[in-house]
Amino acid sequence: MSDVLIKSDHGALIIDGKAVSANVLAEVAAGAAELIAKGVRPGLAVVLVGEDPASQVYVKSKGKAAETCGFHSVQHTLSRETTQAELITLVEKLNADPAIHGILVQLPLPKQIDSQLVLETISPAKDVDGFHPVNAGLLAIGDRKRALVPCTPAGSLILLQAAMQALGRTISGQDAVVVGRSNIVGKPMAQLLLAESATVTIAHSRTRDLAAVVGRADIVVAAVGIPEMIKGAWIKPGAIVIDVGINRVPGEGLNAKGEPKSRLVGDVEFAAAAARAAAITPVPGGVGPMTIAMLMSNTLTAARRKA
Ligand code: GUN
Repeated sequence: MSDVLIKSDHGALIIDGKAVSANVLAEVAAGAAELIAKGVRPGLAVVLVGEDPASQVYVKSKGKAAETCGFHSVQHTLSRETTQAELITLVEKLNADPAIHGILVQLPLPKQIDSQLVLETISPAKDVDGFHPVNAGLLAIGDRKRALVPCTPAGSLILLQAAMQALGRTISGQDAVVVGRSNIVGKPMAQLLLAESATVTIAHSRTRDLAAVVGRADIVVAAVGIPEMIKGAWIKPGAIVIDVGINRVPGEGLNAKGEPKSRLVGDVEFAAAAARAAAITPVPGGVGPMTIAMLMSNTLTAARRKA
């Protein structure tokens, strides 16, 4: 067993996303150092509009990770009244800036701004979120060499591969079910699994008998954003479960400030699923840390392609 997998009390291997992401970040930092020695410092610009507290936390972690990797890191914080035209002007300026290789506009954006229009303004070569239609299209035609792949699915695939390797399996030919059809996770995840020759089903809110569909899967990727919606009893014994969900739910008791405690849970009922699965990602500490690591990896990739 590799150092990124922990045998749990429940019987399943627990895939340690923190350990895997630390390995990815170390590789990115080494790659960045090589590029810097050649005179090119990878540059990442993160744009935050408004004061959404969750977004502020994410953006801060992204900036910190970029600095840890040795990148040139800039953050643009704009007021919640920013107009679409102002945001587009900033994106165009970053598109033209040779010191910037990656641009990330944190979502969600305020109501007055058309998010899709903004995402489509980002130069595909600097689109480190992989949300531009050009990158979605390159992924769909199986051209990962030219695409920038969305961070959460790219990180999920690495965790899945680590578990597969430890179990002596390969993805090719396996039945994979992705629950969720978002452009950010579900659809690109399905494309990545298809490129690895899995037989892929995308399930969603209109899927009939989700329990039966999930129950056939050798690989389950849960990306619905509903706390513990995927029941442990649905999981086929020996399946691998990747839980993309990060949901805050009420906990027990009060915190130090006297406020009701909260806790994070995934989209999968963890303990019951871990009793049946061969391997599973925890929440927190599974897919979450991989997303930021893959953002750094995409920024390095963009900088290398430019150099
Ligand atoms: N908001 C939540 N997740 C993401 C992400 O992966 N990228 C961006 N840009 N915004 C987000």
